[in-house]
Amino acid sequence: HSATVSLDPAFVVGPVRRRTFGSFVEHLGRCVYTGIHDPGHPTADADGFRGDVIELTRELGVSTVRYPGGNFVSGYRWEDAVGPVEQRTPRLDLAWHSTEPNLVGVDEFMRWAAKAGVEPMMAVNLGTRGVQEALDLLEYCNVPGGSYWADQRRANGAEEPYRITMWCLGNEMDGPWQIGSKTPQEYGRLAAETARAMRMIDPGLELVVCGSSGSQMPTFGEWERVVLTEAYEHVDYISAHAYYWEEDGDLASFLASVVDMDHFVESVAATADAVRAARKQTKRVHISFDEWNVWYQKRAESRPPSGDDWPVAPVLLEDRYNVADAVVVGNMLISLLRNTDRVHSASMAQLVNVIAPIMTEPGGRIWKQTIFHPFALTARHAAGEVLRLAIDSPVHETAKFGDVAVLDAVATHDAESGDVVVFAVNRSLTEPVVLDVDLRGFPGMRVAEAVTLSNPDHTWQATADDDTSVLPQPNTSAKVADDRVRAELPPVSWSMLRLE
Ligand code: AHR
Repeated sequence: HSATVSLDPAFVVGPVRRRTFGSFVEHLGRCVYTGIHDPGHPTADADGFRGDVIELTRELGVSTVRYPGGNFVSGYRWEDAVGPVEQRTPRLDLAWHSTEPNLVGVDEFMRWAAKAGVEPMMAVNLGTRGVQEALDLLEYCNVPGGSYWADQRRANGAEEPYRITMWCLGNEMDGPWQIGSKTPQEYGRLAAETARAMRMIDPGLELVVCGSSGSQMPTFGEWERVVLTEAYEHVDYISAHAYYWEEDGDLASFLASVVDMDHFVESVAATADAVRAARKQTKRVHISFDEWNVWYQKRAESRPPSGDDWPVAPVLLEDRYNVADAVVVGNMLISLLRNTDRVHSASMAQLVNVIAPIMTEPGGRIWKQTIFHPFALTARHAAGEVLRLAIDSPVHETAKFGDVAVLDAVATHDAESGDVVVFAVNRSLTEPVVLDVDLRGFPGMRVAEAVTLSNPDHTWQATADDDTSVLPQPNTSAKVADDRVRAELPPVSWSMLRLE
């Protein structure tokens, strides 16, 4: 098998956006408590934040972090978690049938974000609450002082306003599981009015309206059309969420998940553009892909507690990722980059313990899942502009998507340094593929680095005891000759070729 990729510096999709490499911290399971926050841990700071988690967050290359949910936000009273910690009281979290201790709130999160060097992306509750509470939170965060909530923030120790730019207008309001879920008309109106009022405080906000919580939702497409018809003028982005997992041992379809992701982006962009035409608008609404990952939703650990059991920080959604999962994650990043003209922001869900690249033991060790590596390498090395590729690949049949190209790839070109980086996956279950990149548009390149993540056993998972036996390894087959670079990519693999 051999697959040819042609690229040219003139064929540009758009810039590599740092916000493509966002993540997500929700008050869910052990993401906050015993995840980022663990006062008893030896590396904890005065706020109780684990230094080792902050270090790995930086190593992962995370740009933005969405907070505080997720489903959690749709029942959240943010005021419960500001002011002196000893005066805060626990509340029921209905979304995850847990107890929220309110030890971490907006102020603590903002201090964490500053330490981790990430841009916050704040979500308001449009499930049980509405315009007023969103305005109160915005005033608390962004107004310098001289008004009630702004002065409360100052009294709570934050003299300067946080000036948070990105705000999510609720979460997954199309989902019947969402507290206060709505019809698209109801939600579209509420989002429009919330956005309009928020801009009265701060016109410079970038606002994300909720799109569908998945392309499989029965209302997918129509939800976007109706919501945007109500809210188009007032918002900048529409959200997209997608989770994939291997079902019934069908690895070929799982590895081709990005076929759905590409279709998702194309459909939402087309719908947004149709509303733009109908509403006689000139601006474009872009996509915030603010939840994406592999998530084995049917596993028992995804089910919240029940009955009288309302634990604090239970073990929930602690998926263990294997090598094939990491290949799919790498491929999802390829898709997000390829769609950089329409996807202007994205958040991998989530950061720590909950469907996460980073895992912690309470008070103890920290370790990296397999999915950490393609994310960290893509975030570190994708730079400049995304190139539009011509890919000629063999195809194979999949049960879910029919014939699918075995090889998928994207490339970036940094005009400043001259570097070209190719990210590629081989989705064949059994056969290696020779990647053959035509570099005539970039004469005189040499291989600076070539790495591949794969394993003869693609079900290998990292653990706290061993998260290093399978890592991206140098791909020694990568060679340049006659302005072509060729590299052999093993089956079920993700690779990065850096050329300089
Ligand atoms: O990321 C886990 C959950 O998935 C989020 O809370 C919700 O928004 C989505 O359904």
